[in-house]
Amino acid sequence: MFSLKSKVALVTGAGRGIGRAIAQQLGAAGAAVMLNDLDAGPLAEAQKAIAGSAQCAGDLTDPAFPQQLVDRTIAELGGLDIIVNNAGYTWDNILQKTTDEQFQAMLDIHIVAPFRILRAAAPYIRDTAKREAAEGRRAHRKVVNITSISATDGAAGQAGYSSGKAAVIGLTRTMAKEWGRYNVNVNAVGFGLIETRLIQPLTAESKIDVKGHEIRVGVQQGLLDTVIAASPLGRAGTVEEAAGAVLFFCSPLSDFVTGEVLICSGGMHF
Ligand SMILES: NC(=O)c1ccc[n+]([C@@H]2O[C@H](COP(=O)([O-])OP(=O)(O)OC[C@H]3O[C@@H](n4cnc5c(N)ncnc54)[C@H](O)[C@@H]3O)[C@@H](O)[C@H]2O)c1
Repeated sequence: MFSLKSKVALVTGAGRGIGRAIAQQLGAAGAAVMLNDLDAGPLAEAQKAIAGSAQCAGDLTDPAFPQQLVDRTIAELGGLDIIVNNAGYTWDNILQKTTDEQFQAMLDIHIVAPFRILRAAAPYIRDTAKREAAEGRRAHRKVVNITSISATDGAAGQAGYSSGKAAVIGLTRTMAKEWGRYNVNVNAVGFGLIETRLIQPLTAESKIDVKGHEIRVGVQQGLLDTVIAASPLGRAGTVEEAAGAVLFFCSPLSDFVTGEVLICSGGMHF
């Protein structure tokens, strides 16, 4: 139905989980994909598995890095047509136990990093769209920002995460308005529970390492059981299913859809 041949995509957080599946599906559809992740090991493995991809390891919360990542994508792969702001993690606690560092970290990765990536891409997007218009061509570009039902429904224990993920919806709708004139579709996909390390059953051992911090991740087994049982499809989603919703927004199938939030949760709400 469509091919992404000759398109260049940038996917953040592509070393594992949903981002890796998104990169795989974009690659399978023909796009040249720049993969980014904080963790060089998983990133190198992902790159090996995706033909024609390139990689750029680095921390998106380093203020200088988003510009470097965008510049490198354009220099190495020859353009930038699709941006998927996917990288993220949870760092949960009830409000009164949430530190300033913890709250700020959730804003830094979920809203400040996507903002900096889009700002870095703006000159290329504007200049390319103007050139195409002068040539009488219209080429759609795509931005997909990843959000969560924690943002749209709220989730106890996730003040920072849900705030960052809600902010990305504001950025999505604003950029849809600013970049419509450049034929950029800017949309968001909000996930429910998708089977990655972030939703493993919460135990003393369920931790991830983010920049040297050991962060407890996971969802309480009771909550997992209750929300899954109450949801229409009665299960968590796979990373491939999650990537499918993102692929729609990266493809010509969504050329007349912009500023929207698609919830991909099997009907689950918190
Ligand atoms: N899994 C779910 O149920 C779920 C639900 C809603 C939203 N999400 C969102 O989906 C996205 C992907 O999550 P996932 O479940 O695949 O998690 P994951 O941990 O499997 O993958 C996320 C990747 O992002 C990378 N990352 C984190 N911080 C980074 C940084 N500063 N710079 C570069 N890379 C960084 C991690 O190293 C990791 O490889 C996240 O934005 C997450 O918040 C996930």
